[in-house]
Amino acid sequence: MFGADAPALTARLAAGNTGPVAPKSKLPRIIGFAGGPPNRAGPPAVSESDAASPAHGGATIAIYSVKGGVGKTTFAANLAWCSAVSAARRTLLWDLDAAGGSAFLYGLEPHAARFAQDVFARERPAARLIQATQFEGLDILPADESIRALDAQLARIGKRRRLAKLTAELSAGYARIILDCPPVMNELSAQVVRAADLVIVPLPPSPLSTRAFELVVREIAGNTRQHPPILPVLSMLDMRRTLHRRAHEGNPSWPVVPYASAVEQCAVHRQPVGAFAPQSAAAQSFARLWDAIEKKLALRC
Ligand SMILES: Nc1ncnc2c1ncn2[C@@H]1O[C@H](COP(=O)(O)OP(=O)(O)OP(=O)(O)O)[C@@H](O)[C@H]1O
Ligand SMILES: [Mg+2]
Repeated sequence: MFGADAPALTARLAAGNTGPVAPKSKLPRIIGFAGGPPNRAGPPAVSESDAASPAHGGATIAIYSVKGGVGKTTFAANLAWCSAVSAARRTLLWDLDAAGGSAFLYGLEPHAARFAQDVFARERPAARLIQATQFEGLDILPADESIRALDAQLARIGKRRRLAKLTAELSAGYARIILDCPPVMNELSAQVVRAADLVIVPLPPSPLSTRAFELVVREIAGNTRQHPPILPVLSMLDMRRTLHRRAHEGNPSWPVVPYASAVEQCAVHRQPVGAFAPQSAAAQSFARLWDAIEKKLALRC
């Protein structure tokens, strides 16, 4: 899985360098996301010349891990809010997990229709499925049951960059696209890595956190010739617990999101924590994490 680059990658990890193995040759480019009407779903119209501008800072950020229940959907929903509301960037939260957690956390009900995979077959434009949230500048492309067959569908289509092409097109209307990924390692996750400018990996704290992160990086590196920067984040950190403290001390440069009942309450309020508890430690940790993400993205230029 590690391939011929294994020693080099291990050395880079040990040095805390989780940047790209090789620079991405093509990044989606666009400028000018100054808003659009409040709560209007779908990307705003953007001229061809805008879409072709090299000066944009558009980016796709994947929240990914092979492990389930580590906080991916929680991160995706909360970071999308930070991007749209705190940073005032037009943001699309794209739910790639049939469980539909991201849409649920924004109070949207699942579609009975099975349309989500049509976007990948190019039988239905993504814009037709995008829904507005109650927050200005934040839209969702929800999942539905059809997504369960997405991996097989992508393999059948045989276009290795189909997701990357779709996110590049959507970048004409969104400054930030956040992908909420299922816990899989397959063609879909390989496409996610090809589409992403940055991969965020939530890691529950444990003595094995570093090892768990290395495994995720190896999986990613083993499936793609070049990959985007990968940012590990300790999720559900409880500093009252010795093992959690040790995991934090062992990786002091990793951003953290604390274990917090306010985060669990997101599923009750069906809002991100920043919307209903902006002063909470959890909301502030997501805000700090978003700042770290923006700084990392700025290094691309
Ligand atoms: N910081 C936190 N504090 C407390 N609870 C949390 C925190 N982060 C996540 N949780 C809870 O942990 C559970 C799993 O989180 P989440 O659904 O985000 O994980 P996931 O990685 O998306 O899972 P899956 O792989 O099944 O999609 C949820 O009940 C969520 O509310
Ligand atoms: Mg999830």
